[in-house]
Order: sequence, then structure tokens, then C-alpha cells
Amino acid sequence: MQRQRIDKILSSQNIASRSETKNMIKAGRIKADGITVKRADEKFDPETTVISVDGQTICFKEYLYIMMNKPAGVLSASNDRYAKTVIDLLPNELKRKGLFPAGRLDKDTEGLMLITDDGELAHKMLSPKNHVFKLYYAETDKILTDEDVKAFQSGIRYGDVICRSADMKIIGEKNAFVEICEGKFHQIKKMFASLGANVLYLKRIRIGEVSLDENLRPGEFRELTEQEKTDILKRTKE
Ligand code: URA
Repeated sequence: MQRQRIDKILSSQNIASRSETKNMIKAGRIKADGITVKRADEKFDPETTVISVDGQTICFKEYLYIMMNKPAGVLSASNDRYAKTVIDLLPNELKRKGLFPAGRLDKDTEGLMLITDDGELAHKMLSPKNHVFKLYYAETDKILTDEDVKAFQSGIRYGDVICRSADMKIIGEKNAFVEICEGKFHQIKKMFASLGANVLYLKRIRIGEVSLDENLRPGEFRELTEQEKTDILKRTKE
């Protein structure tokens, strides 16, 4: 990785602002490979240099990848004047500049949300060209039938929107898993509405090959594993 100024490294990791770093350097609190850093413009490769603050080694991460179980009632946005957002649910030490939710879930939808500052990965995951599959669990107010499954399979149309073939697996009278490889606005709700069904509860449970961690209760989150960072782009429609 390119060498970067120490103040930039620490601010990128949300450890200290540039002016705080200056004061910490003056106080001799920052070391790089065991040597006390003297100036804020000293440059290091953050991936190969052992940087410590008050004797504590920092764990440099170029990007953050957070899996959240989004609760209902929270916006999938970075900030909002009135409503709570998924970013607001993160603790300060994870609230890095540039973090954003990759993709949208409606305010009342729960489930798997990726929050990252890696624009390239988010773009690959969301790009309509890549057709990454997303799996949802839906409860409706209508008894679902094989006709509905067939309609989803043939590609639902509403207004002038044409959806690709979607897989619906009925698991109870009024609930089903639905897998889509697109991300049109309110897509699942609109697909069901075209069959005369209202969606009463909706939860995203998988993106690509990454399933929502069952240990995460609504509002909880954890970082993705290395494996999950690649698996989130797998399972695509050709
Ligand atoms: N489809 C919807 O209708 N809502 C969501 O939140 C996600 C997919």
C-alpha cells in the first residue's frame, strides 16, 4: 500500500483527528515500528508498519465491511434529519467518514444490510449488470398459490416495469422465500401487489452467498469475514 502521513492514517481509522494527532505526537504517544513519531507529516505504509498509540497497536483496515441486521423503523441511509439511520446504530469507533449502506431496504424492512466504505465492492454488489441474488422472507395477507409461483417465474410486470424471473418458494399459507437478482424500488412489495397481495413483513436474509448471521438480533452488527467479502459477490445470474 502507498505510504501515507501518520495523521491521515489515524484519522482514516477514526482514532484521532489530524489536530489531535499533532498533540499526541508532541506528547510522544505514537510509535511506528517501535520508534517515536516526531512529525505529523511522516509517512508510513499502514499495512506493513506496526503503529501504536499509547503502546496499543492499531489494527489498520483500509475498508470496513459491516453486516447489520437492520431493524424495522430505521432508514437505510447515511444521515437523516428526523429518522434514525443504520449508521446511527454504529458505535463511534466504527463511525468512519465515508461509511454508507450498500443498497436500500425500506424503513419497515428488516434484515441483512451491508455497510461499508468500499465503493468498488458496493458498486459490484449493486450494479444491475452483475445480477447478484438477494433472498427475502415475506409474509403476506393472501394465501399463496402455485399460480403465484409461476407468475414470479415468468417475470412480473407492474406499470412499465418488467422484472426478471424470480424464484418463489412457498413455505406456509401466506409466507414465502423470494429470490431476486435486481433491486428495483420496492420490488418485492410491488411484485406481490401485482398478485393482489400486501406484504405484511419483509426480511432480507441473504446477499450473494452471504446469509444474515442468525446470532444478530435486529440492530446488531458484526464485521464480515474475509470469506464473506468475496462470497457477497457470488451467486449471480449469468
Ligand atoms: N423489496 C421491497 O419491496 N422492499 C425492500 O425493502 C426490499 C426489497
